[in-house]
Amino acid sequence: MTLQRRLFLNHVAQTGPFPFGIEVSHAEGVYIYDTDGKRYLDFDSGISVSSLGHGHPAIVQAVKSQAEKYMHTMVYGEHIQAPQVQFAVRLAQVLNNGLDCTYFVNSGSEAVEGAIKLARRFTGRYEIISCSNAYHGSTMGAESLRSDTDFTMAYVPGVPGVKHIRFNQKEDLKYITNKTACIILEPVQAEAGVIVPTDDFLKAARKRCDETGTLMILDEIQTGFGRTGYLFAHQKYGIVPDILLLAKAMGGGMPIGAFVAKREVMQAFTQNPMLGHITTFGGHPVCTAAALAMLQVITTEDIVCKVSYKEQLFRELLVHPLIREVRSSGLLMAVELTDKKLLMPLIDGAIRRGVLIDYFLFNDNSFRIAPPLIIEKEGIHEGVQILISVLDSLI
Ligand SMILES: Cc1ncc(COP(=O)(O)O)c(C=O)c1O
Repeated sequence: MTLQRRLFLNHVAQTGPFPFGIEVSHAEGVYIYDTDGKRYLDFDSGISVSSLGHGHPAIVQAVKSQAEKYMHTMVYGEHIQAPQVQFAVRLAQVLNNGLDCTYFVNSGSEAVEGAIKLARRFTGRYEIISCSNAYHGSTMGAESLRSDTDFTMAYVPGVPGVKHIRFNQKEDLKYITNKTACIILEPVQAEAGVIVPTDDFLKAARKRCDETGTLMILDEIQTGFGRTGYLFAHQKYGIVPDILLLAKAMGGGMPIGAFVAKREVMQAFTQNPMLGHITTFGGHPVCTAAALAMLQVITTEDIVCKVSYKEQLFRELLVHPLIREVRSSGLLMAVELTDKKLLMPLIDGAIRRGVLIDYFLFNDNSFRIAPPLIIEKEGIHEGVQILISVLDSLI
């Protein structure tokens, strides 16, 4: 064991007993390199983060030049910082749906926290509806939205007032009432193993929210910025949320998140009392400069329009007797195996052979493929061939 690995295991907090433990040297494009010079094809994007790949020159340049100009100057919301303003304006333009006011935070979980506070504050109600098998983050509020007690039992009591309904079950929408502050939904349930919305579930949820004065919070933390083949998944599924949550790919590899709403909704935080939600580092200038560069690239280069072709190519190639089903929304894919016992040997085998894939939190017979959106067809062939040969070895 290398010294670095021993120090990692002893001094860096561990989230599980078997970390992947790749000792990273550098990363470029769709590849990550370890300190022994081994190359890994990134089929995971660090959980849907590195959509533009690693070390994209526009992001690197934005980070460098902003760091040279200024970094932290004041807690969020007090100083006027050009990267924040420009990102918020550009985002409102590309959304073009009335969501015109962005609150910047540091992560996805924080976006969730801010949004549920905003919904309670704006509606004056406290009840929150979440879906079974949803994942919205690991802070106390976000954790309280989870339905699976295996994960949450050790932390009870959670935030009061949370009820769960089943995703894709329109009859459960009746539980949204005029007592409900908000429903929070992923447009595609990611950690449940890529469960895509059926029929008009999201549209029916939108309608029920309108009837009851409930705010619809859409968690696009994993689906945003082109992952599903549309800039945002709500555009694909034909709805407009009241509060949109963003993070992960937003910063092009830098840590940033946001919740976005109409200005009249967001203003609930501003007075009586003021300081409804505050953060020191939210919208850090270096991270927003990176996010602005990311938004510029993803909205001007032909990346998103090629996602669905790449999705089809994956689907054509991912055929094997041990594969039961492939579920996908763009380049967010779940490959379901015929037996859950195959999952960990497959993931380990793939990593040993240089392809990074991952498991899901709430689906133990499927693995995740979510490569950088910039992956080319050669990379798709290379990676899937390796996955197929690892599957062959498991028959
Ligand atoms: C859909 C969704 N929401 C929220 C989060 C939480 O984001 P973060 O880990 O940045 O706090 C995640 C993270 O995986 C996610 O996938």
